[in-house]
Amino acid sequence: MSAYAQSGLAGAPAGTRDHGISGAGIGLRLCHIDEVLRQRPPIPWMELLADNHLAEGGLTALHVEALASLYPLTLHCVGMNLAGTDPLDDDYLRRVLALRERSAAAWVSDHLCFTAVGGRRYHELLPFPYTDQSLRHVAARVHRIQEILGAPLVIENVSAYLRFSDSALGEAQFLSALCRDTDCRLLLDVNNVYVNAINHGEDAEAYLRALPFERVAEIHLAGFAPREDYLLDAHDRAVAAPVWDLYARVATRLSGVPTLIEWDNDIPPLPVLLAEADKVAAITEAPR
Ligand SMILES: [Fe+2]
Repeated sequence: MSAYAQSGLAGAPAGTRDHGISGAGIGLRLCHIDEVLRQRPPIPWMELLADNHLAEGGLTALHVEALASLYPLTLHCVGMNLAGTDPLDDDYLRRVLALRERSAAAWVSDHLCFTAVGGRRYHELLPFPYTDQSLRHVAARVHRIQEILGAPLVIENVSAYLRFSDSALGEAQFLSALCRDTDCRLLLDVNNVYVNAINHGEDAEAYLRALPFERVAEIHLAGFAPREDYLLDAHDRAVAAPVWDLYARVATRLSGVPTLIEWDNDIPPLPVLLAEADKVAAITEAPR
């Protein structure tokens, strides 16, 4: 039995139905919280950016409790620094755990990257070489994080704007080995797969074939910004047509895995976000 059999994240596809996390959700940002609490739109689930809600008192905590009474929630972090070499921030992790308890969040996710060096936090998701050494390093940190959280961590593939000649493993192979070594789960960001495939001339389908799909607990979709000679994972617009196409192919293999619309910059009115989520249902519920 998995070490996390009681956590609701044991088995495949990662306990998605046990917590009411299913269908198409939205990443709920601060600007929409009041509107959601007032209007209570029929959104099947929502993801909170955990780093915005770590205060244990005041209005922020009240909002979290009110949201948790109305919607199934998940937590998305940007501060665990999974691949960093600074010591793990136990205080940060304990505050994430407290937030998970307050929000009854089904699971907690963060990114395959580093976000701090020498005590300085960077507001970027920074890549690192995929080697046996970095695998052991990240796996040890994931083990420790999972001990603190008491549940498997859900780890997301990121958009990266460089590749390391030192990498002995592909990203999908690295994630697969990390799942094997830590019992973690995956958050598959389809936009990030597409952006990386275009920017680095890689094969998105080959990447997807190398991922352990049975470990995928959640899917992300977001909009990219075309730059002169690359795509930027900007989260500032609607999901692009080729990403929807890739998602449609992924969805046939990941039936029942919940999908989330992320929109973090130039955030539109709530109905626009909800209309993006409706497109997910149109794809997943279309006859095949
Ligand atoms: Fe994402």
